[in-house]
Amino acid sequence: MYTTLLTSLEEGIYIITINRPDKLNALNKQVFQDLNRALTEIYTNTEIKSAIITGAGPKAFVAGADISEFSGLSTDESKALAKAGQDTFFRIEQAHKPIIACVNGFALGGGCELAMSCHFRIASDNAKFGQPEVNLGLIPGYGGTQRLVHLIGKGRALELLMSANMIDAPTALQYGLVNYVVTQEELLPKAKYLLDMINTKAPIAVSKCIESVNAVFDETKNGYEVEVNGFGYCFGTTDRLEGTSAFLEKRKAHFTGN
Ligand code: COA
Repeated sequence: MYTTLLTSLEEGIYIITINRPDKLNALNKQVFQDLNRALTEIYTNTEIKSAIITGAGPKAFVAGADISEFSGLSTDESKALAKAGQDTFFRIEQAHKPIIACVNGFALGGGCELAMSCHFRIASDNAKFGQPEVNLGLIPGYGGTQRLVHLIGKGRALELLMSANMIDAPTALQYGLVNYVVTQEELLPKAKYLLDMINTKAPIAVSKCIESVNAVFDETKNGYEVEVNGFGYCFGTTDRLEGTSAFLEKRKAHFTGN
């Protein structure tokens, strides 16, 4: 179905594995094309409740944008490349269903940017994060200079961006870049465990959590207003009636996403 992705749907969780292990899952044009198709699937397929993005093989999540595609690009073409990458990652960040990154090895450059566009991240203990673009005479182009600051703060972000240093998984945990560090074997089970739990919650409420939190980082929006509107929207849903009734009747709620 996809040239560069493996996908499966397991109990409402869509697992996307970027599958170019011989190139450490580097993001070439085809990966972006496939990722965009997979995102459309997440947005539109009602059987998909949430998603995981990971990389094939034991070594890399994604080792960056495919550097071999950089040669010969004009300034305008390079800007278009960055804009297209940013747009893809906005689609991940703005998805109304949770998408989490399982970082199973190197997450460098565009790989770190991809992981940061997900709603949160879990790392295996061999994971390494970095933005090594200055080694190539470049800066990140897929939102890395912005999301890294949001996630770990200005000083740490600037140190990583300017030095090209990599950080290991325990440091990423300490910085708040990832929520958990587990063994490679535990990586997908941990993500599935968390998503199974989230998937039992009211889907519209979950989507309004994402929308409200994203508004914190969107200068065109007043996050408090987005929250009020989200609260009001949820109030009018069947799932809010079900959730509050279930609590009062001391039973488990069964949400339908309406
Ligand atoms: N783009 C294109 N190809 C890449 C790549 C990238 N970002 N990262 C790795 N590869 C390829 C290598 O060219 C190599 O291909 P080959 O076997 O055909 O020569 C293969 O993946 C394996 O990588 P290799 O460098 O041999 O592995 P390593 O274990 O020695 O080093 C890294 C691993 C991640 C440290 C190293 O590959 C690296 O520095 N990659 C680039 C990271 C980067 O700068 N990313 C930002 C891009 S904007």
